[in-house]
Amino acid sequence: MFSNASHNSRLSAISPVPGDRAVLAKVTELIADLKPDDVDLLKGLHRIQHQYRYIPPDAIPLLAQQFNTTPAIIFGTIDFYSELWLVPPAENVVEWCSGPACLVKNSTGIRRALEAELGCEMSKASPDGRFELRLVQCDGTCNLAPLIRHQGEYLGPLTTSEAIRFARGLTGRVPSAAGGGQGGSSGAATEAAE
Ligand code: FES
Repeated sequence: MFSNASHNSRLSAISPVPGDRAVLAKVTELIADLKPDDVDLLKGLHRIQHQYRYIPPDAIPLLAQQFNTTPAIIFGTIDFYSELWLVPPAENVVEWCSGPACLVKNSTGIRRALEAELGCEMSKASPDGRFELRLVQCDGTCNLAPLIRHQGEYLGPLTTSEAIRFARGLTGRVPSAAGGGQGGSSGAATEAAE
């Protein structure tokens, strides 16, 4: 994915990497065993995000050094993958699938309902920082379309009213209908049908 040779001399000039010492120490530990190739870069990014729930900016120069490339390439790689984040997530992140199977089954209506109920626009946190709606790509679970994900669990197929019920559960206005794992719409669907 990226070329290493032309960047090495410039990167050596910025060592040691500036930034939060605790972050630098932890990131160094997390990526110490990784080799400078694409596969290991993704592995390193996932390790860091698992640790912090996002990629702290202080980790970027360190990653560039470890993988013999530039910070710009690291930024570009993170930006390419919608699952990798450069800012801390809100307390509750709801992922909305933007894929075609979801779109043809009214995922846009679900998006509008979630934005209204959670008080946040797509890709922005609510003013109180409690909720965030994130656009994600299809991951192949189209049998659940239209779906959303919350805390790693899938909710779908969802109707708009079920999405509203779910969002109100998160905000505390009604008991949460979230959960159930893959195919977890059954809880929401059951409640909506009652
Ligand atoms: S299009 Fe949404 S899961 Fe495939």
